[in-house]
Amino acid sequence: MFFPEYRPRRLRRSEALRKMVRETTLLVEDLIYPLFAVSGQKVRREISSMPGIRHLSTDCLVEEAAKAQAAGIPAVLLFGVPEHKDGEGSEAWNDAGIVQQAVSAIKRELPELVVITDVCLCAYTDHGHCGVIRNGEVDNDATLKLLSAMALSHARAGADIVAPSDMMDGRVGAIRRTLDENALQNTAIMSYAIKYASAYYGPFREAAESAPRFGDRRSYQMDPANRREALREAALDVEEGADFLMVKPALAYLDVIREIRENFHLPLAAYNVSGEYSMVKASAANGWIDERRVVLENLTGIKRAGADLIISYHALDAASWLRDG
Ligand code: PBG
Ligand code: ZN
Repeated sequence: MFFPEYRPRRLRRSEALRKMVRETTLLVEDLIYPLFAVSGQKVRREISSMPGIRHLSTDCLVEEAAKAQAAGIPAVLLFGVPEHKDGEGSEAWNDAGIVQQAVSAIKRELPELVVITDVCLCAYTDHGHCGVIRNGEVDNDATLKLLSAMALSHARAGADIVAPSDMMDGRVGAIRRTLDENALQNTAIMSYAIKYASAYYGPFREAAESAPRFGDRRSYQMDPANRREALREAALDVEEGADFLMVKPALAYLDVIREIRENFHLPLAAYNVSGEYSMVKASAANGWIDERRVVLENLTGIKRAGADLIISYHALDAASWLRDG
């Protein structure tokens, strides 16, 4: 059937009609809100590279998490910005560390809220790499033990889900074994299975004080040019026991999200990363774009590509816009 018999515009004539034929619906339940934990009390320090996002001490972090929960957001993702850094990132598995404290405080005050923790050493090491350095290189197998200790410590503090973001080989299996050996078989793993070596992490590295002091992350994160490799990475993590897969970043990798959706059956998350966020915020601050419409368009696009869950710094704003219709 062709024009003039078929006129696609017939179903675009009113909002009621458009709603009836809408194929993708973004829901507040799809969103995960990232939070940055720091030590101290009453700390709400704005992160200059990410307008609207703050470093939060545990008391303020619980308040922010309560806002998310009240808005209908089901989960938060915690990052720690520790005071003490060393070669191995030992603060990462300190049972009294900032993330561990934040997790137990949220679980005490807001037991229904799902708590996910980022598991990676880069914010904890003095050199800023995601693993330990041996002979000038990030040593894969030595790093696995440390990541397992970090994940175990988060799980003991009460994390529902641990999310390894380091891109070492074999870490999902190593973490799964460690959790199981410690009777934490119910703690889930959300694997940053497909994480590209992206310039879009720039603002986050300022937020987490986690930029590498030498070199870059291209020997462990993926080459942005590769799609077939994403399928291999996903397959490995499924095999090793991941409960969720993740693609990161989201907007320059929508084809990869679609590919993983079509080839795997695990719940799929996509990370709308800091650079994607800050570009929108900067344009909006200049009056060049309509922030609300662009954010909802980006998030809907990520969902349409195939993501079940979207990790986004816009989550709180998006939740209120979705509620207002
Ligand atoms: C830690 C980590 C990073 C992000 C999430 N976990 C940064 C990196 O790999 O350099 C990026 C998040 C963002 O940019 O919003 N490995
Ligand atoms: Zn890292």
